[in-house]
Parts: sequence; C-alpha cells; structure tokens
Amino acid sequence: MENEPAFFETSPTPGVVGQPLNRVDGRDKVMGKAKYSAEYPLPGLVYGVLKTSDIAKGRIQSIDTSLALKEPGVVQILTHLNLPKLAKTPNDPEGKKAIGAPMGFLPMTSDVIHYAGQPVALIVADTFERATQAAALVRVSYAAEAPIAAYTDKRAELFNPEKIQDGKADGYTRRGDARAALASAPIKMTAVYTHAINHHNPMEPGSTTAIWEAPDRVTVYESTQGVTRTQKSLSAYLGLPQDQVRVITKFLGGGFGCKGSCWPHTVLTVQAAKAVGRPVKLVLSRKQQFTSMGHREDQTQTLTLGASKEGKLLALIHEKTSTTSPWDNYAEANSKIINLLYDCPTFESHYQLGRANVMTSTFTRAPGEAPGSFAIECSMDDLAYQLGIDPLEIRLRNYAEKDPSTGQPWSSKSLRQCYARGAELFGWSKRNPKAGATRNGRLLVGYGMATASYPVHNSQGTARVRLYADGHAVVQAGATDLGTGTYTVMTQVAADSLGLAPDKIRFELGDTKLPTAPNSGGSVAAGTVSSSVYMAAQDVWERLTKMAIKDPKSPLFQAKAEDVAVEKGRLQLKKNASKGEDFMALMKRAGLDDVEGTGQGKYGAGYETGRPSNPAGPQNNTESEAKHSMHSFGAHFCEVQVDPDLGTVRVTRWVSVHGAGRILNAKTARSQIIGGSIFGIGAALMEATARDPHYARYTNADLGDYHIPVNADIPDMTVEFIDEHDPYINAMGVKGIGEISMVGVSAAVANAVFHATGKRVRDLPITPDKIL
Ligand code: MOS
Repeated sequence: MENEPAFFETSPTPGVVGQPLNRVDGRDKVMGKAKYSAEYPLPGLVYGVLKTSDIAKGRIQSIDTSLALKEPGVVQILTHLNLPKLAKTPNDPEGKKAIGAPMGFLPMTSDVIHYAGQPVALIVADTFERATQAAALVRVSYAAEAPIAAYTDKRAELFNPEKIQDGKADGYTRRGDARAALASAPIKMTAVYTHAINHHNPMEPGSTTAIWEAPDRVTVYESTQGVTRTQKSLSAYLGLPQDQVRVITKFLGGGFGCKGSCWPHTVLTVQAAKAVGRPVKLVLSRKQQFTSMGHREDQTQTLTLGASKEGKLLALIHEKTSTTSPWDNYAEANSKIINLLYDCPTFESHYQLGRANVMTSTFTRAPGEAPGSFAIECSMDDLAYQLGIDPLEIRLRNYAEKDPSTGQPWSSKSLRQCYARGAELFGWSKRNPKAGATRNGRLLVGYGMATASYPVHNSQGTARVRLYADGHAVVQAGATDLGTGTYTVMTQVAADSLGLAPDKIRFELGDTKLPTAPNSGGSVAAGTVSSSVYMAAQDVWERLTKMAIKDPKSPLFQAKAEDVAVEKGRLQLKKNASKGEDFMALMKRAGLDDVEGTGQGKYGAGYETGRPSNPAGPQNNTESEAKHSMHSFGAHFCEVQVDPDLGTVRVTRWVSVHGAGRILNAKTARSQIIGGSIFGIGAALMEATARDPHYARYTNADLGDYHIPVNADIPDMTVEFIDEHDPYINAMGVKGIGEISMVGVSAAVANAVFHATGKRVRDLPITPDKIL
C-alpha cells in the first residue's frame, strides 16, 4: 500500500548541496505515478460528501434524511444526532489545546450554526456521485438569525485581545514612548491600509481517506503539511495513543498554510469510517475549500510614523482591526515585522478583533509579515516621496544594525547586499524620481521596491540514516514535501553528508512511522530537516569511526576519534589523509550489512556542530533565550505599466534578491521565490474573497471566480541569493525561503503603481476601479 517514489533522474555530482538538481520526484509526478493522499484505492472504499449550511447563524430545527437514505448506494448519513462520540472536542478551551485545533468549534457536535458553509451532514455512499446526489436530497430546516459578516458591521463586538493566535503573540506591544516621540517628531504621517480576505486554494484540495484496521487503530491518508501534527490532533480527538493513529502524506499539491492544522472535515471523515466500518474518502469541493480550512482575514491597519526631516524614523504606532470567529482570538501578527524592520527607537502596537459569523482564519503564506510589510513598506515609500529622498536611500538611513524589537544582534543579515544587487539588476538608478512622469507610449511606467524579512522559527526534528555496505543509503524523516522540493533537497544533503552520489540515496518522508519532523510551515522544514539529516549522518560516522579504531585490520586502529575525519565516505586521519579507508571496506570486514544513525535538527544550533550556538544558554534554545535574532532578509524590485484609460496594472519586470542562509538547491529555491512573489502579486492586484454583508456567505467561493495570476500576468523574474553563512541558526545554516518569498511583494507593486500614476492605493487588491 505504501507509495515510495521510484528514484532518480539525477547524475552523480560531487558537492550536490546548492546545485540546481532536478526534482528527484519530478518524473513520477509528470508520469502520474506520484500518489497523492486521495488516490489510494483501498478495498471496500466508500465516498464521503459534506452537506453544508446555507445560513451563517442560527439553529438546525430538523434534518430529514429519509429521502436521501432511499437513494441506491447510500451507506450512512451522519449528522450531529449520530456522529460517533469523540474523546475530546475543541468546543472547550482544554479540548482545543489538547487537540491543537485551529478552531474552537467542531461542526456536527450540536444543532448550532455559526458560519455559512459549516458541515451539517456527512453522506457516505458507494460512489462519489451517489453521495453527492443523496446530499442534495437531505432536507435541513433552520431557525435562521441575522449574522454578522465582518468587523466592519456596526453590530460586531470589537475588543482588544490580550493575546492573539492562541496566546502565541501579544495583543499589545510597547517599546519606549512612541506617543511622546511622535508628538515631538517634525514629520508625522498616518495611513490606513485594508486587506481583502484571501483564500489559499492549493491545486490539491483538502482530503482525508480513513481506514480503521481495528476498533482502536486507524490509518489516515491526509492532505496535510504535517503528518505528526495531524496524528497528535486525531489522537486527542479519538482518545487513542499516538502510535495507534498513523498518518500518511507522500505527496502534497500545495498548502500555503491551510493544510498546517487538522480541520473539522478530517476528524468527521475518520468518524464516518468508524461508523460505517469501511474506509471512507472525502475530498473537499472547490467551493467547500473556501469554508473548510481557514483563510487570511479581512483587516485594516492604521500605521502612524514620526520621522526627522532627514527621513530617520522616530516613532511607529500600529493598529490592526480584523475579523475573527465567535470563539477564537486569531489574528495574523502583523506588527512583528513592523517592530523590527527599521531602526526606530519607539514602537507601539494594538490588535482589535471583531467577532463575526465566520470560521477562524488561519496562517496564509507569510502570515503577519505579508500584510504587515504592506503597511510599513508603503508608508516608508510615502515618507520618501514626501521628503524627496530616494525610496531605497530612506531604507538605508533606517537600516537596523541589530534587532530593534529585542536589542539582539542578528545571527546574520545581508540586506545591504540584497538592496545593492537588486538595484543593480533592476536598474533602479535609471528611475525618474518624479511620480507619473515615465511613459511607454500611452502606458504609465512605475518602479517600486520593498524590503522582505521573515524569522527563523524555533523548531526541531529527528531523522534516521541507514547506510548500507554496498554504498547506498535510506534516509527517513516524517517531513512533508509541499511540492517545493523536500525530497530533492534532503537527497542532496544526505548525499553530501554521506559522501554518496544522489542516486544512491532514497529519502522517505510523509509517514508518522518515520522519525518526527516538524510541519512544513513557517519556513522551518528546510532548516530543521536538513540539519536532522546532517546530524544523523554524523551519528553514522561516529559509530563507524569507533569501529575502525577498535579494528586491528583498519589503518585507523588505535587512532583517536578526534583525529579522524570523514571525506566523501572515507574515514581518514585529519593530519594524514593517506591513512584511512572507505566505509564499505570497514563494514564488509566487520560483516555489517548496514549501520544506522539518528540525528536531531535544532533551532539555534551551531553550524556543522549541531550544538547550541549560545553555549551559556540552555540546551534547547528558545526564541527568547537565543542570543541572536534570526531572520532572513530580502528586497523586491518591481516595474509596472498602468493603462491610464482602463486602470489595468501589468507587472512587467521583477527582481528579488534574498539572503537566507545556505541555499540547498539553486533551482527549487528560485522556484520558491518565484512562487511566493506571484502569490504576493496575486494579493496585490487580484485576490479577494467577498463576504456578503447580509448573509455572511462568500459570493465568489470558487476557483473560477477567485482571481489569481496566470502565466500571462507574470513577466520573467530575476531571482538571486546572497551567499550568506550563518553560524548560529542550525547545523546546516539554512534559514528557509517559503514565506519570505511573499513578504514585501504587495508593497513593491503598490509603490510601483504610485510611481507610475501618483495615486497611492492602500486598499488591496489594487483593481482598476481604484486606479481610475
Ligand atoms: Mo505556512 S503559512 O506556515 O504554510
């Protein structure tokens, strides 16, 4: 049943880390051999379809399933009346915490309706079509109440939360006295920014296939960014030990944050499989994808800055108001990036939430940093124009030499090089400083730029390496490949760490039976998993070194372990490389078929040592205990051409330069930055989900009506990385690039639109009506 990808399309290259290796799973993907989570043809499989609520607030008065149950092939219809009981639900704070649920409410546990699109029944039938037909025949009558659609509704209860994101971020931050600093600042500016609701819409929708092998043992093929996180959630929901819940995700067709948590459809499908005693598969429809796995919340940011006449920041005050669900205090933490991007002596931020009849919003690519950077980076541009300073120059005048939010030194920061190289590649110096003054025929041409930053988050994980005497290796970690290249880059890391060609490595991931890896989220996977693989290889070498120095037949007999080094699979004396032997010779002599090692990848660990980089600190650095502030930085440069008659904006040139530690694969890294930049251009110019103010229903909840950029909307993009060595972040010196690729993008576009037109649009997306 396992779906281990067949490998490899690569040729052996010495020193493969960093090389633009083709994807090791690429061939399987284009051949249709890569099996995604909804593609397991389990014997006896039946199909689940959700029926969802049309109303956004009220109660279910009755559900009539009699007609639907008469349809041929219908196996079972689950509602709140007959859902098998769960050990825990997220409906109370303790349950929510134990489950790690993204939402403090599980549908189908009562008759209460809190949001439109909330599941009210799960229909199981022998075919998908029959389940769909039966769903249409289920009659639900509601006692509807008038819903609240957004924080902008006058009836919405607005409040200042002490904490946001389940306590993970502060609702109020204060550094110095920003109000006093503002009062005496020569330049004061206040701007209001709004951001539309965005939905993730991965190419592969959310799906769950659940099979109970025994009354207390279940396997779930899930479309998730983290098998372990899903396993932990389900084990709490079901009251089963973790090892009796297996979660498998071999391939993922994108996630962007919506697959970072275990959402209701997953546990409902698991319970449906239990109820019918057969494996059940449920795939969210495109429409259901809009009300099943979160979204980026609708939000307003008010940013006030105080500055000197030379453009030096003196005060920053940030306020954000956004919509949240009836239960959770969730908001993207926008203020974090505003607090650290520039050297500013004072800072203050507040969050305000408005409860509405919506599901809880969730992480969406660069959560917080993406919309936060829109506010600060547009305001910096504003300040530059107001003072007649070049937008790039004003950023250099406010360059943060250490992290202003914590006072810590940066573990590394290459932002100056990013600015310089980006400006050079783009031709920034050719920019006419006057807005609205550059034309290409009848089109207005604008240049804009913005800074990007994203933290290296605390994370750890484990990997296992099994090195065989015949010169191949199997390397395992329960990680995820979102489609971004985990299979490929970990193969490269293992190849170099073991001194083998990449086609001698098989990297396995996506199964809770494998050593635990973090979610592919928050840009932690590349750094943490690569460091685990590297450390596991070191463990193998340590074992083999011990063997060699005890083996009278080894050239290294009685050598000291610290005098031995490993070079491309050869154990040898550091001072005399000719004295040594190949690992294969050593293992064959000992009659060993294989040797196994495990290793941990840790946040805040020293480069290639894996030891905490702050020796005075605790063994496990946490973000607050770490000695350094760890961040990636980058810069985007954008050219737009705007049609003054139609108001259409076309991005015509794009340059991104990032410093993100060690880059594991030049090709997949470039693709990541291109993907994130396109994601950001979508948010800047097109993406918006409209929630009807009366019914609190999405009016364009379909991929056809939710506009995203297509190839014709995107120019060739220039992407470069600064060669950056960071000794403090993790054993591989990898910072991660999945999220930073989107940060600053919408501001770069908006700033280019201003330069082209002289019109400052602070309301995303920048659609033609806002330009005319
Ligand atoms: Mo990322 S928004 O944590 O997938």
